[in-house]
Amino acid sequence: MTDLARTIVEAQNLNLILDTLHIGIIAHTPERKITFFNNEAEKITGYSKKEVIGRDCHDIFQGPFCGGKCSFCDGAPSFFSSKLEYPVTTATKDGSTIQLEMTVSPIITADNVFKGVVASFRDMTELFHLSLKAEKMSNFAGIIGKHKVMQDIFKQIQEVALYNYPVHVSGETGTGKERVANVIHDISSYGNGAFVPVNCGAIPEGIVESELFGHVKGAFSGAVKERKGRFELAHKGTLFLDEVAELPLKIQVKILRFLQEGSFERVGGEKKISVDVRIISATNKNLKEEVKAGRFREDLYYRLNVIPIHVPPLRERRSDIPLLISEFLREAGQDSPHGVPQIADKTIDILLAYHWPGNVRELKNIIQFSVVRSRGKKILPSHLPGEITEKIDLNPGILNQSTMDDMVRVRGKLNSEAVKAAMRKAGGNKSKAAKILGVGRATLYRFLANNEEIRIFADQL
Ligand SMILES: Nc1ncnc2c1ncn2[C@@H]1O[C@H](COP(=O)(O)OP(=O)(O)O)[C@@H](O)[C@H]1O
Ligand SMILES: [Mg+2]
Repeated sequence: MTDLARTIVEAQNLNLILDTLHIGIIAHTPERKITFFNNEAEKITGYSKKEVIGRDCHDIFQGPFCGGKCSFCDGAPSFFSSKLEYPVTTATKDGSTIQLEMTVSPIITADNVFKGVVASFRDMTELFHLSLKAEKMSNFAGIIGKHKVMQDIFKQIQEVALYNYPVHVSGETGTGKERVANVIHDISSYGNGAFVPVNCGAIPEGIVESELFGHVKGAFSGAVKERKGRFELAHKGTLFLDEVAELPLKIQVKILRFLQEGSFERVGGEKKISVDVRIISATNKNLKEEVKAGRFREDLYYRLNVIPIHVPPLRERRSDIPLLISEFLREAGQDSPHGVPQIADKTIDILLAYHWPGNVRELKNIIQFSVVRSRGKKILPSHLPGEITEKIDLNPGILNQSTMDDMVRVRGKLNSEAVKAAMRKAGGNKSKAAKILGVGRATLYRFLANNEEIRIFADQL
């Protein structure tokens, strides 16, 4: 065989191999011209090789296929020197939403010339939906929650990430609204841009306009230089208008105009500035009530509230408390010389019964507080701040089986009530009790060694 023939055969074999893989592969030149697309890529995206080869990646996929995170898309391959991995939400040819796990690498020749990009991707959609259906997804991009309402929120986040419609997140303070906004941003096609949060309630009324829209030099006394506002800083990214109900009416008009026209003027300026920004807003107030009271413009309300997401208070999803506790303990353990702190059953009972006016933020703070206070020892009720132990409303109806299971998980394998019940059933016979509990004898002995009260109880049987 000639060298040329050998090369051709090798190339054909390589194509064959790549076509049998159960992973989608796409490659394109520095100009984004697609040069390779394997069988699995066709299957996942619904586009055929014929349709895509030679075309611009962005034209074909109606936007960046790689979710806008492939830093190469900005034409800056120099810092794009290593492999990137991330999840992406995108659409197939027929418009259905898919979740991909994407790995992007640069193609660089031996003499360091940048030749393009190769991306491999796996379709995670089914797995994702299955785990949502099974309500097994207890951590969605850092949002913890197994409760039905949280599962619904995870679904909503996935759905809205794909579109650029304004999202409004409502819920009490500390329920996780900003975190929801953050995740929507991260997995959307704006995820490569900045996430710019603005707390509308915290900016003095006199400077809100210039904070948001910037100003030109000399716009007001003190405006010695021109300055960009948050809208401009969020270009190609997401502007998060937190506590949006606090905006003065005059600013509401300007935001409405931006939502209608996509442009605005800096304070004191005449030039129209256009930016491509996704707006996510949030409030702990009832925005509809604010409209009724005349404090919020109705037209802006409808513009912002295109997709509403409501995050319920923690007391309405108490079964998530054990999960959140274990996550916050794990986080606390990361910077602690004592490792992950232990927590006493009684402490968890109190945390489950408390009404959490400050929601998840308050729970997180209290866990951090008690970890410090217990100095690496097991967290006892006495380590909690006084107001928690004083204000609990013990309500046994809040605990269902799944909450109990989670509690067992947080507390360790066994809990006192279960062991007591098993011991009673087994008439004090530890081997039998271990069988009833579904644990090894050694585990039960270890548990009893650490729980004097139950050991005594068992010995008396
Ligand atoms: N479901 C959750 N899982 C994990 N952490 C959460 C969750 N909800 C809120 N948090 C944490 O609680 C704190 C408050 O959340 P944040 O999003 O700022 O609330 P909000 O904007 O509603 O006041 C943050 O530290 C956030 O990371
Ligand atoms: Mg907030």
